[in-house]
Amino acid sequence: MQNKKVTKEFIQGLPKAELHLHLEGTLEPELKLKLAKKNGIDIGQHTIEEIKATYQFDSLSSFLQVYYPAMNVLRDEDDFCELAMDYLKKAKIHNVKYVELFFDPQAHTTRGIPFETVINGYYKATIEACGLGIEAHLIMCFLRDMSAESAMETYKQALPYRDKILGIGLDSDERNNPPRKFADVFALAKKDGFHITMHCDVDQENSIGHIREALMDIGVERLDHGTNIVEDPSLVAYIKERGIGLTCCPMSNGFIVDDLKGKEMLELLHQGIKVTVNSDDPAYFQGYISDNLFALAEKYDMTQEDIIQIAKNSFEIAWISDEKKKEYLNMIDEYVASSNC
Ligand code: ADE
Ligand code: ZN
Repeated sequence: MQNKKVTKEFIQGLPKAELHLHLEGTLEPELKLKLAKKNGIDIGQHTIEEIKATYQFDSLSSFLQVYYPAMNVLRDEDDFCELAMDYLKKAKIHNVKYVELFFDPQAHTTRGIPFETVINGYYKATIEACGLGIEAHLIMCFLRDMSAESAMETYKQALPYRDKILGIGLDSDERNNPPRKFADVFALAKKDGFHITMHCDVDQENSIGHIREALMDIGVERLDHGTNIVEDPSLVAYIKERGIGLTCCPMSNGFIVDDLKGKEMLELLHQGIKVTVNSDDPAYFQGYISDNLFALAEKYDMTQEDIIQIAKNSFEIAWISDEKKKEYLNMIDEYVASSNC
C-alpha cells in the first residue's frame, strides 16, 4: 500500500468528514445568477464568465472584498437552504459522510436579514442532509473584523437557537484582530457547552502569536488552517498531547499565499498531528474536498497511507461520540480493504 500511486478515484470514494467549509463560500456563479434574478438584484455581472473574471485575489483581504458583496443575493430562508443543499449534494459525490458547516450571521444581519432567516434556512438543509446519507451540523462564526460587542450581540441572538448550533468559530480578516479580542464571548460559549474553534490563517502578521493565544488563552479544540504552528515545536507538542487537530485547506492557500502549504501539512502529519484537508470556500477556490486532497497528493507525491490517515483524522477530530468515530473509522477500513483503485 505504501508506494501505491494515489488516484483521484480512490480519494473520491474514501469516506470522509469535512470540518472547514464556509456555506457562504459555496455560492457558485450559477446559483448567484439564479438568486440575483429571483430577488431582482443587479450584481453587476450577467454571465458565469463575467462573475469568474471578478475572482482576482492574492490575499485574505482581497478575497474577502469579493466574498462579502456576493452574499447580497441571499435574501430569504429558501435561498439559505438552497445554498446549503447545493453544497451537500456535491459533498455526497465526494463521499463526505459528516460535515460541520461554518456560517457568518453578521454578514447577513448587517444588511438587514434577520438572524432567524439565516439559521432556519441553513438548519433545514442539515435535516434534509440525512436523506443524502450525510450528517451535518452548524458552526456559527463571528467576524473578527467586527467589534467584540457585535460578536456578543450575535451570540445572544443565537442563544434561542442553541440546539441548532454545534460550535462557535471565528473568521474573516485576521490582521490586527487577535483571538484575545473575543476572549469574553468565547469564554461564555465554552461555559454554555458549545464546541469552539478559530481561524488562524496562514502567514498572517504574528501568526504564531495568534495560534498561541487561541490555544492557551481561548482554549480552542481545533485550529482552522493553523499550519504556521510548525514554527514552534513546543506548540506542536502541546497540540499533539491534547489531540487538537488542524483543518487545512490547500487550494485556498494556493490562492491566498500562492503555496498549498503541503510541506508544512505533511511535516505535521508525520509528527502525528491530526491534520485534515478541507475545501474552505470551494466556489471561489475552485475545488471541493477530493480536489483538495488530490492536488496535495499529486504535488507532494503522497502515499495512500497519508491520504487514509488524513481521512481518519477528519473523523477523529470531528465533534462526535467515540462510538460514532469508531463506525466511521470502520467504514474507511472496509473501503480500503475492498478498493482496487
Ligand atoms: N471566511 C471565509 N473563508 C475564510 C478564510 N479562509 N479565512 C478567514 N475568513 C474566511
Ligand atoms: Zn476558512
